[in-house]
Amino acid sequence: MNAESPRADAPLLQLRGLGKVFHTDEIETHALSDIALDIRRGDFVAITGPSGCGKSTLLSILGLLDPPSGGDYVLDGQDVAHLDARGRARIRNDRIGFIFQAFNLIADLTVEENVALPLTYRDGIGRDELRRRVREVLEVVGMGHRTRHYPGQLSGGQQQRVAVARALVGDPAILLADEPTGNLDTRNGEAVMQLLEQLHETGTTLCMVTHDVAFARRAQRIVHMLDGRIVDEDSFERLRFEQDMPLPAGLAELAP
Ligand SMILES: Nc1ncnc2c1ncn2[C@@H]1O[C@H](COP(=O)(O)OP(=O)(O)OP(=O)(O)O)[C@@H](O)[C@H]1O
Ligand SMILES: [Mg+2]
Repeated sequence: MNAESPRADAPLLQLRGLGKVFHTDEIETHALSDIALDIRRGDFVAITGPSGCGKSTLLSILGLLDPPSGGDYVLDGQDVAHLDARGRARIRNDRIGFIFQAFNLIADLTVEENVALPLTYRDGIGRDELRRRVREVLEVVGMGHRTRHYPGQLSGGQQQRVAVARALVGDPAILLADEPTGNLDTRNGEAVMQLLEQLHETGTTLCMVTHDVAFARRAQRIVHMLDGRIVDEDSFERLRFEQDMPLPAGLAELAP
């Protein structure tokens, strides 16, 4: 617990009255409205909801890629809602690990170089320490045998495990994953899901966006979103049918 934290039991991350409006040409999109969310250390939270409901927008704000248009965001006792781009980048690089649907590895860097990348922006890490840390996280994700390969020489599931290693290498406060299994077949999706569960069991704080209800149910807690708002599960079911929205993949299979 660092000295800045107001209370030992305070959530790692707290959003209150948070909103996001996008302005494109003449159009205003209210992508998020009045979001309240707490995530505690060691939590595993799944965010689910139909396409366009604001899941990725929320994750981008949680991960300090984007600022909110209004409201409060406190990360580990620090107000991060009002930082400029530089301030956000600094904290993001220190505290946040990202996993994306499309893996986002750099094609002409080896596995080892891709995983090392986040650490190269940090001060005070020597070559040996960096190498040791990279090897360590590649072992955690079961990719210690592919350090010199290039992303194009790996399967999708292997690429995503490397992306998980890259997200972990800086020892982030929270791991954010946007549809981490979305580009994978069932078997590889399951392997990545098991890896996330294993990380959760060893204390990692995780927040995962997924359309897949079966995967969402494996988190500790499910946050349902509709039209830029967080809703409870009952409202989610009711409103979804009222609005005649298509069932997300995974739910369709479970429907009677
Ligand atoms: N950069 C942007 N500029 C303008 N509008 C945006 C931008 N990013 C997102 N939006 C809009 O905000 C809304 C929420 O988008 P978002 O990407 O968060 O949805 P999502 O829940 O992640 O959807 P999906 O499941 O399809 O990934 C959408 O209406 C989208 O068009
Ligand atoms: Mg999205």
